[in-house]
This record gives sequence, C-alpha cells and structure tokens, in this order.
Amino acid sequence: LTSAGPIPIPVDDPADERVADFFALNDPDLRRARARSDGDDGGYFVAEGVLVIRHLLRSQFRLRSVVVTPKGLAALAGDLGGVDVPVYLLPQAVMTGVAGFHFHRGALASADRPRSPGDLLEVVDGAPLVLMAEGVTDNENLGALFRNAAAFGAGAVVVDRTAADPLYRRSIRVSMGQVLRLPFTRVDNMPAAVRRLQATGYEVLALTPSPDAIDIGDVSPGHPVALLVGAEGPGLCPASLATADRRVRITMASDVDSLNVATAAAVALHRLAPQSLPGPERPVERGNGA
Ligand SMILES: C[S@@+](CC[C@H](N)C(=O)[O-])C[C@H]1O[C@@H](n2cnc3c(N)ncnc32)[C@H](O)[C@@H]1O
Repeated sequence: LTSAGPIPIPVDDPADERVADFFALNDPDLRRARARSDGDDGGYFVAEGVLVIRHLLRSQFRLRSVVVTPKGLAALAGDLGGVDVPVYLLPQAVMTGVAGFHFHRGALASADRPRSPGDLLEVVDGAPLVLMAEGVTDNENLGALFRNAAAFGAGAVVVDRTAADPLYRRSIRVSMGQVLRLPFTRVDNMPAAVRRLQATGYEVLALTPSPDAIDIGDVSPGHPVALLVGAEGPGLCPASLATADRRVRITMASDVDSLNVATAAAVALHRLAPQSLPGPERPVERGNGA
C-alpha cells in the first residue's frame, strides 16, 4: 500500500463487529434489514470485486469501510491511496466466514445510500439519451440495463417503484459498476414521469414487441430521446404505452415471443445512441509510404 493510504487492519474473527457491514451477504432478508437499520440515513450498500470497487472509489457515494483478502489488497493497493475509511485485511477463510459463502472476489466495500432518490429532471439533466425501465424486478436484468445504457451513451436511468434495487450487490456487479457511475432515480409513477420529460422536450419511445409498433430501423433518432422498456413478464403497462410518443419494436422471427428486456434495450439504445460516442482509441495506422 502507498504510504498515503490507510494501514490495513488485520481481522481474524469472522464475528468481529468491525466488519458487520459484510455479514451474511447471501441472505437477502438479513441484508435488507441490516442495510436499513445500520445506516444513519438511508442505510448502506455493498459493492464487490476489484473493478467495481474502483468505480465506487471514484464515485460520489460516501465510503464506509473496505475488506480485502491479501490477493484483493495486492490488486487494489494502487487505488486505496486517498481512502480515509478503515481497510480490514482478512485471510480468505475469515472472508468466507464473514460473507457466509466462499467469496472469492478478494474485496468488498460498503457505502452510504443516498438519502432520497433525486428529482427526475435534476437527475436527467437534459441528457440526449435516457433509459426508463418499468417493473424490472430482476437484479441481473437491471444491472445489464445499466451496463447497456452506459455503453450506448445514455446520460441517466429512471426506474419505477416496483423495480429491483439498483444498489443491490448483484445489480452493481452485473452492471460492471455502471450503477455507480450513471445518475439514476426511482419514480412513483412511470406515466407521470414520461409526461414530465415530454414537457421539457423529450420524445419518449416505448419499446414493445407488439406487431403494430414501428420497426426501430425506421426510426430516425432525434434528441433528446427517452427509451422506455417494460417488465420481463407483462411488458409495459397500458398507461405507459399510451403516454409514450411512439411505440417501437425490434422485428424478430415470428415464433419468438419477445427478447430479454436488457437485450432489447441494447439493440434499441445502439440505434438511438448519440453520434458522439467516443469508442476505443484506435491505433495509429502506418502504411508502407508513411
Ligand atoms: C420480456 S419482454 C415483455 C414481453 C411482453 N409479452 C410484451 O408484450 O411486452 C420485456 C420488455 O423487453 C422489450 N422487448 C422485448 N422484445 C422486444 C421486441 N422484439 N421489440 C421491442 N421491445 C421488446 C419491451 O420493452 C418489453 O416490455
């Protein structure tokens, strides 16, 4: 660890209260209860793995503590320099005892949850492309939606009150940490949120496999635009479908009912992405005559 970083504190007892943020990670009920009761405002969340924790360290979320195995410490050593919360060092067997299963990703971090979800218009902040997700209750689908949104240049994600928790450990992991980078908010009523965005100039496109929708290939993307996707089972509710400006579909083989919500969103977001996506840096081409 760099001299400016915290000195890791050894922990050898899996019942040590100093690492209570990370007890029984695989027990969702216990996690929910502890997350609510332990925080002094909205509770806390847990992020896992070196890559995701790197995103967390650069985010606006307030860190509470970090636990690492020797392997995790070696991988994160260069990132912990400015960290001003305790970093606990646990042998792998103690890490397993704390988490309640064989946790092999080497590092966990806890951080405070925001006190409130944030006002829709402030979170969206005029972004040219926004993703709105209604009724997505599966943590992995939600994480994949955030990853796709980030990949195709969406500036914010809006979920409704029935959605899974974006800050649940698995959602964060599947998003590859993008939940910690992309601004998001939770709204009580999706059709009302659609109307608020429309009032500020957004065109809202509802994504539906319905055969009477317009094919996404025939949509010329204008901005700002919000893409609205629906729940795994029932799809978008009638009120949301009716409120959107247009309904768009991704044409599929006739014997397939629908795409997975995150897959459908990826196809549509790619179509709607702002032209200014930077992409990877290209190697300089050197021809024979150069
Ligand atoms: C599993 S689908 C729901 C299927 C549901 N039977 C319906 O009619 O919407 C979940 C979401 O993915 C999106 N979706 C899936 N397949 C699609 C397609 N071929 N075209 C457009 N959207 C699609 C829609 O937003 C949908 O609400």
